[in-house]
Amino acid sequence: MKITIIGTGYVGLVTGTIFAEVGHDVTCLDINEDKIILLQSGKSPIYEPGLDMLLQNNIVNGRLCFTSQADEAFADSDVIFIAVGTPQEEDGSANLNYIHKAAEDIARHIKHNVIVVVKSTVPVGTNDYVEKIIRNHISSDIEVHVVSNPEFLREGHAIHDTMNGDRIIIGAEHKASGDVVEALYEKINVPILRTDRRSAEMIKYASNAFLAVKISYINQISNLCEKLGADIASVADGMGMDKRIGRAFLNAGLGYGGSCFPKDTRALSYLSKKNNVSMSIVEAAIEANTTQRQLFINKVVDHFNGNVTDKRVAVLGLAFKPNTDDVREAPSIDIITALVSSGAKVSAYDPVVKNIQVLDDCNVVYAQSKEICVENADAILLVTEWDEFFENEWLASVIQNKQIVLFDGRNMLNKNKEEILS
Ligand code: UDX
Repeated sequence: MKITIIGTGYVGLVTGTIFAEVGHDVTCLDINEDKIILLQSGKSPIYEPGLDMLLQNNIVNGRLCFTSQADEAFADSDVIFIAVGTPQEEDGSANLNYIHKAAEDIARHIKHNVIVVVKSTVPVGTNDYVEKIIRNHISSDIEVHVVSNPEFLREGHAIHDTMNGDRIIIGAEHKASGDVVEALYEKINVPILRTDRRSAEMIKYASNAFLAVKISYINQISNLCEKLGADIASVADGMGMDKRIGRAFLNAGLGYGGSCFPKDTRALSYLSKKNNVSMSIVEAAIEANTTQRQLFINKVVDHFNGNVTDKRVAVLGLAFKPNTDDVREAPSIDIITALVSSGAKVSAYDPVVKNIQVLDDCNVVYAQSKEICVENADAILLVTEWDEFFENEWLASVIQNKQIVLFDGRNMLNKNKEEILS
């Protein structure tokens, strides 16, 4: 099959590379020429374990190529995937400008029958809208069907998740087009659920919001455990042994960040308000997630009796979670901003993120190593649970040897790490 992917962001790039890996002929299209040049040279613009190697192998074997030329990308493609961003608007709604543009580009260039697949996370009804835009612009003898196929990969585990995910959702109104998309995944051994398009779109939002609720719930339980002297790790383990609950996503800490949960929960809230349906549970989770960061900041400030002026605070971890260089909605940003504006002197270290642009005015010192970061610190804040901080008990021994206070934002040090990460 000849596949075109529009958008070489996280989702588009991983999807395209995996499709090439399983034998399809893939062209990735992006308007950003610098990115295309980088990708053509076999380098990934994002940090994702394992991606560079797959990228290079498939470029070399001729199954994966990159272009910024739409005519070239669409020329003889059987299936076109839309994997562009749907950034958040101020009111929480998803901005569909890139989706709209992708649909128009397809309509402008397509001269043959084609299946268009929407992979981007989009509000319910968007697939209908995409089909309408394309059909309005093409001649009536060309057949175009739009299929919804939302993405569930996690950053840092993207390759693994695409090959071994829990499910592939295919939402199609036109059965034969759904069959073609299903066939694309033939070599990927993941269960497939076929639905209508609107249900497929909703499954994505409902899943992400559910996980966000689960995290906020365990965080609030953890706050109560702390007051009452219960151990949240044991509580989570005990809850997780109930198969109806499950242990995953019960790791208490600083709460969720990243490009999906914050954006998708707000988009679901917006969608429900627009349709006059209460989504108070998700809204409470959003609020709890914001509060969780503030509680952590308060703890640090309280430790210094309300005055952090000139206190040297070492922040370990900047990425929103380990194994990614993504800092979108990362707790590190709120924490550092709050502490610096209260007068603290912040040094920060992350194995992959070397600076954060939005913190440019913040006077943060980016340390070259974790050791340099914690030198002379009055307090250490564990913000992202990178493996490197726990290798050979490094963090535990720093705390013990230097007698520095640790604010363990990921609740890592008082339990078996293997258990937490599983
Ligand atoms: C998520 C979903 O998992 C994925 O299916 C979806 O398509 C995209 O959004 P991602 O954002 O990459 O993936 O990260 P994920 O591993 O799910 O973690 C999300 C956030 O929740 C992170 O900030 C993480 O630190 C936090 N988290 C996760 C917790 O605080 N506790 C947990 O137990 C699990």
